[in-house]
Amino acid sequence: MSVFEAVPIDKVAEYWNRRPCNIRHSTREVGTREYFDEVEARKYMVEPHIPGFAQFERWKGKRVLEVGCGIGTDTTNFARVGADVTAVDLSAESIAVARKRIEVFGLQDRVRFFNGNAEALDTLLPDDGQYDLIYSFGVLHHTPHPDEAFARLRRFLKPGGELRVMVYNKLSWKVLWILLGYGRGKVWDLDRLIATHSEAQTGCPVTYAYTRRTGRELLERHGFKVTEVFVDHVFPYRIPDYVQYRYVKEWYFRWMPTPLFRAFERAFGWHLCLVATTAGDRA
Ligand SMILES: C[S@@+](CC[C@H](N)C(=O)[O-])C[C@H]1O[C@@H](n2cnc3c(N)ncnc32)[C@H](O)[C@@H]1O
Repeated sequence: MSVFEAVPIDKVAEYWNRRPCNIRHSTREVGTREYFDEVEARKYMVEPHIPGFAQFERWKGKRVLEVGCGIGTDTTNFARVGADVTAVDLSAESIAVARKRIEVFGLQDRVRFFNGNAEALDTLLPDDGQYDLIYSFGVLHHTPHPDEAFARLRRFLKPGGELRVMVYNKLSWKVLWILLGYGRGKVWDLDRLIATHSEAQTGCPVTYAYTRRTGRELLERHGFKVTEVFVDHVFPYRIPDYVQYRYVKEWYFRWMPTPLFRAFERAFGWHLCLVATTAGDRA
């Protein structure tokens, strides 16, 4: 049994309500256009692989289900290109900010929100058909029973539709950094250490991490056919500067030429990105 299986879902919701993901990406007043523009600029500056992974333009006129929309940065970009978006998140606080964002940009006709648990998606969403894309970025490793969530996702994906999901990579620079920096090498306590230090706010109640193999297996055992697996994203900035909105790289990344840093990210990045489609006719 994993250390996270017994965590109540309310504890997860409480954590993300206390500090919605990326909520401090701007110092402007939360809910203003300037605030949302700055949040987006910082997010895609620090995580530049996201637009390439989401491939927003491809989903114009398509049905997109986003699981774990947070404060709605990617949600907004799916809606902007003309996708028909259904966005789900466990955190009511996050949904409130995401909803405001959609209003600010006048995209209300394109997005509907549901506040609830991805592990119970079948009871949360109306029975109104399947989706062309299911997108979930940095979410399903935070739920106590990821298998429950993936089993439900499969039912909501159209035959031939696409699943694009990011979960954390265990064989990553970030995990080594946590282990050596915070964990004093306590490998036996790694799962708990990762969860404690995985996010901007310490003490995340649930954070699983996967290898390329276990990530692929997680999808395959729920009827997905994995078509692409890659890792990306190493955070290169000094945290004391980063929280002050200054972007100063750690000395050991400063000297690295960009092509070398990119190769390092593609080998030991924190984001394990998986693309899958439906396998057979199982639903
Ligand atoms: C790291 S944030 C990512 C948010 C967004 N995808 C982004 O990239 O900014 C994780 C999000 O997952 C949501 N979450 C965690 N467990 C969930 C669950 N079981 N069902 C739905 N959402 C969940 C949290 O509320 C939080 O908003």
